[in-house]
Amino acid sequence: MEELALKTKKLVLGQVSVCVGCCCGNTANGRPAVPVEWLKKEWRARGLLKRIQLTMSGCLGPCDVPNIVTISNESGTQWLGNIDEFEQYRELLEWAVASRNAARLLPLPKSFRGHTIDPFSHTLRH
Ligand code: FES
Repeated sequence: MEELALKTKKLVLGQVSVCVGCCCGNTANGRPAVPVEWLKKEWRARGLLKRIQLTMSGCLGPCDVPNIVTISNESGTQWLGNIDEFEQYRELLEWAVASRNAARLLPLPKSFRGHTIDPFSHTLRH
């Protein structure tokens, strides 16, 4: 692995970023809700804060697909979209608890298979 210039003591298993930018979760514009306060409360109550970083993010980019979530660790980033039902956030929470207990990010539940998205162009070049 490439030698990095800086180090942090705050190492985590992974990071879950939940988009609450201009579009995601913007119910005033007819977008599905994001249970921000519930997620923060549960993340704390379940003891996840120091193991799996939860970030409420500004716009992550692909606004045309509602409710984007990214999951990152040293292997890369998984992008999800259409995370628009409360039950999906509950599943993410339970997955995070199981991952914390396993000391590694586990594969996401099968129910997220239809929600994967790649926001990076593989054809656009200058
Ligand atoms: S607001 Fe979520 S991708 Fe733009």
